[in-house]
Amino acid sequence: MKENKYIERQGKAATKIFDNRSLEKDFRTLVPVLKEGMTVLDVGCGTGAISKDIAKIVGKKGKVIGIDNTEKFIESGKNTYKKVENLMLIHADLFDFEPKEKFDLIIGARVLQWLTTPKEALLKMKSLLKPTGQISILDYNHEKLIWHPLPPKSMQIFYKAFLKWRKDAGMNNKIAEDLQEMMNEVGLRSVEVLDSSEYYKRGEENFHSKVGIWSKVAGLEQIVEEGYIDDNFRKKVIKDYDKWVEEQAISMTMTLKEIRGKNGINVQ
Ligand SMILES: C[S@@+](CC[C@H](N)C(=O)[O-])C[C@H]1O[C@@H](n2cnc3c(N)ncnc32)[C@H](O)[C@@H]1O
Repeated sequence: MKENKYIERQGKAATKIFDNRSLEKDFRTLVPVLKEGMTVLDVGCGTGAISKDIAKIVGKKGKVIGIDNTEKFIESGKNTYKKVENLMLIHADLFDFEPKEKFDLIIGARVLQWLTTPKEALLKMKSLLKPTGQISILDYNHEKLIWHPLPPKSMQIFYKAFLKWRKDAGMNNKIAEDLQEMMNEVGLRSVEVLDSSEYYKRGEENFHSKVGIWSKVAGLEQIVEEGYIDDNFRKKVIKDYDKWVEEQAISMTMTLKEIRGKNGINVQ
């Protein structure tokens, strides 16, 4: 699928971004849901950085399985977290995954934004839940990215082209806003929405790498190959944006929401 080709081609840069993620910083609203002994499935786990933090909380009585359909992320994670005994990373696509067990909790962080069939993904996740299990999805509203001050004109044009490329490929740019309804439609109960937005301010650790993510996105040739922008312009976007991050950027907010729902099966 087109979207996976895109993620795979992010290669080393993506591996580094995923490795730097943690539960505390990058899926903080999930923490109160986690309990010792839980069996958790992390769908689209990347290199497993968030999964390994969850494994620590569920402890030896519980376990975490992380699946990802990009083999190099799984291979990298297996190597990095080989000592985490209750974490298992598997190269698998959600839609083909047929585990023997059912899960107390299934999570998907920043994954459904890449799928052309997110509702089918929720249905598949629901089929893997225990009767008392729940699903928790963290995802973006890319239409509500806020830069302060505005970045160079070239980045503003690029970002519009990026959103158009995603939309034309069938991806939902504001999936965070639509997940509540989707969860209700697939029969999940007690659906809750939590604000999980990320705010980066100059002076904070990681400011440059977090705000600089758009320069990495512009580093991709796929958007050029598919005719959305011209290659010289793409190079200008990166140059202008990197300079802006160094000299002018004050803050950036990425709008994210966590949407949770419980399995609808009656257990009586
Ligand atoms: C943006 S990354 C998020 C990684 C991690 N969850 C995090 O928050 O850092 C999305 C991941 O979903 C994976 N992915 C996309 N579609 C998938 C599918 N159908 N089944 C399994 N993994 C998938 C991609 O390979 C990629 O590693």
